[in-house]
Amino acid sequence: MPMNGNGLVWLNGSFMSFEEARISIEDRGFQFADGVYEVVRVYDGKPFTFQEHLKRLRQSASLIELDFKIEDDRLKEIGQELVSRSDLKDAELYIQITRGVAPRSHAFPREIYPTILLSIRPVRPLPEGALEKGVSAITLPDERWARCNIKSISLLPNVLAKEKARRAGAYEAIFIRNGIVTEGASSNIFLLLEGVLRTPPADWRILRGITRDLVLNLAGKEGLPSKEEEFGVEKLYQAEEVFITSTAIEILPVVEIDKRKIGAGKPGTVQHLLYQKFKQLVKENPAPAL
Ligand SMILES: Cc1ncc(COP(=O)(O)O)c(C=O)c1O
Repeated sequence: MPMNGNGLVWLNGSFMSFEEARISIEDRGFQFADGVYEVVRVYDGKPFTFQEHLKRLRQSASLIELDFKIEDDRLKEIGQELVSRSDLKDAELYIQITRGVAPRSHAFPREIYPTILLSIRPVRPLPEGALEKGVSAITLPDERWARCNIKSISLLPNVLAKEKARRAGAYEAIFIRNGIVTEGASSNIFLLLEGVLRTPPADWRILRGITRDLVLNLAGKEGLPSKEEEFGVEKLYQAEEVFITSTAIEILPVVEIDKRKIGAGKPGTVQHLLYQKFKQLVKENPAPAL
C-alpha cells in the first residue's frame, strides 16, 4: 500500500496506514507505559546509526525484562521497507515495543506477547532560524525517576517540562537534579568552558544519546579536549558555548538559558565545526561504528 509523502506503520507483522493501526486498550503500553522505544533518523532514504539504536533498544528492553524475539536484521528489513513503501527520504523511524496485551494487573502476566510497532513519518522541521541563530532554554528540576538510562515510553515529566518551556517561549527544558545538570527533556547537553567540551557522565541520570556519543567521537578526532563530568547550573551560565544533541535536532546551539545570554549570544565555532563534521558523517552513511 504505497503512501507517498505520508507516514506508514508496521504493527505486529503487517504494514498499514496510521489511520488503520489499532492497539488494544488493554495494551500495557497504554495502561502502564510498560514499554521502550527508539527513534532512528532516515537521511536520503537511508537509516542512520540503525545498529546503535537497535543495541540501545535491546538494552532498554532487557532493563525492564521485556523479551522480544524479533531479530535486528528483521527490524532493519522492516525499517527499510517502511522507507521504500512510504517513499519518505528524510524521516523519523520509530520503534516502539510494549509488553503486550493482557487484563490490567501490575505484575507481568504469565503469557503475553509484545506489541511491536514501527512507524515512519516526515522529519519535524526545526523552528525557523534555530540553527543559524540558536535557541533558548529554561532550567527545571529533574522530576524523573532513577532509571533515566532506559529509553522508556513513560515520558510524562518530559512532556510537562517541554510544555513549561513552550509557555516560557523557550525551545528546550534543561533538567537539574540536586544542583547538577543532567540533560534536556528530549536531548543531551554539552558546554564549552575554558576550551574544554563537557557533558554529564552517562549514568542513571541521563539517556546516553547516540548523537552524544557521536559528538564525543568527533571531538576526539578533531583534537578537541572533552570531559564527561558533573557540572552545576552556574557553569551553564558561564559557558562559552552550549549546545544540545539528539537524533531529531542533531546539534543545536543554545544561546540563552533562563533569560541569560550564553557566551556571545550566538552560535559558537565549536558547535559549528562539530555540526559540519556530523553532516559529513551523515553523507558518508553508514557512519563508522561507535
Ligand atoms: C531524554 C533524552 N535524552 C537524550 C536524547 C538524545 O538521544 P539520541 O541522540 O540517541 O536521539 C533523547 C532523544 O530523544 C531524549 O529523549
